[in-house]
Amino acid sequence: MSRSVPLPSEIAAEWSGAEVLYPFAKRAAVGPVDLQVRRGERVLLLGPSGSGKSTLLLTLTGLIPDSIPAEVKGHVHLFGADVGTQKPWGWACHVAQYFQDADQTLCGMRVEDEIAFALENCALPPERISEAVTRAMRKVGVPEEWRQRRSAQLSGGERQLVALAATLVQEAPLFVADEPTAHLAPEAARRLHALLTSGEGGQTILIVDHRLDGLIESIDRMVVLGRDGTIIAQGDPRMIFREERALLQAHGIWCPVRALSMRS
Ligand SMILES: Nc1ncnc2c1ncn2[C@@H]1O[C@H](COP(=O)(O)OP(=O)(O)OP(=O)(O)O)[C@@H](O)[C@H]1O
Ligand SMILES: [Mg+2]
Repeated sequence: MSRSVPLPSEIAAEWSGAEVLYPFAKRAAVGPVDLQVRRGERVLLLGPSGSGKSTLLLTLTGLIPDSIPAEVKGHVHLFGADVGTQKPWGWACHVAQYFQDADQTLCGMRVEDEIAFALENCALPPERISEAVTRAMRKVGVPEEWRQRRSAQLSGGERQLVALAATLVQEAPLFVADEPTAHLAPEAARRLHALLTSGEGGQTILIVDHRLDGLIESIDRMVVLGRDGTIIAQGDPRMIFREERALLQAHGIWCPVRALSMRS
């Protein structure tokens, strides 16, 4: 889809000296973080529970601090522009964001309306919306017979699939996903990983996921947050799992057996 305005920067997302302090918190929930994600790059963000992965991702379009109160220090840039120059929804054509809680993406409407929602906000003609919805449903594996069902009546895994279709339908140049496979059946998780890492459309991908099989083989870089919310390692996932195993385990990060046996 060519709705996006031209994107001048080769850097899709950038945090410099970024740090987030929630109200009344004694220490930063995440940061300081210096991180760049280049256009077309596929990055996996890993870290123990509470290390600030979701918080970091929520600063990307400015939802923190615009909708979730917190103090953000440092700078966050999207495609070269300070995120604060637009409201979070103003980035919708550049960034498609899947939230850790699928219900943050869904509004309780019928499935096809949920998936069409973001495109309607972008004022796309109805026939293009309808095509895009069908394409997204097929890609993610949302069955045709769910179209008229209300999202509130779906199971957790089913809602997650619909929320993923609602995010992927945007075909934005940057796709950000926070634990997109948490409630999916193994086959659906494999399908999603294959989809995300196919390189189709040269999309930039930033993903948080604990299900690593089928994912680490095809990502370009892994970035690891430690318990204190700072980056403790980054680089080729196979290298990190091989050479930094003790460090990862000290931070409570599980090393997948397959990753250790993989050759680079
Ligand atoms: N809205 C909020 N207000 C106050 N504190 C928060 C808020 N959201 C998260 N936190 C705190 O910030 C820290 C980082 O939380 P965050 O959810 O970003 O971690 P995470 O790495 O995504 O964890 P998980 O793997 O469990 O999803 C935690 O200590 C958490 O309790
Ligand atoms: Mg999280």
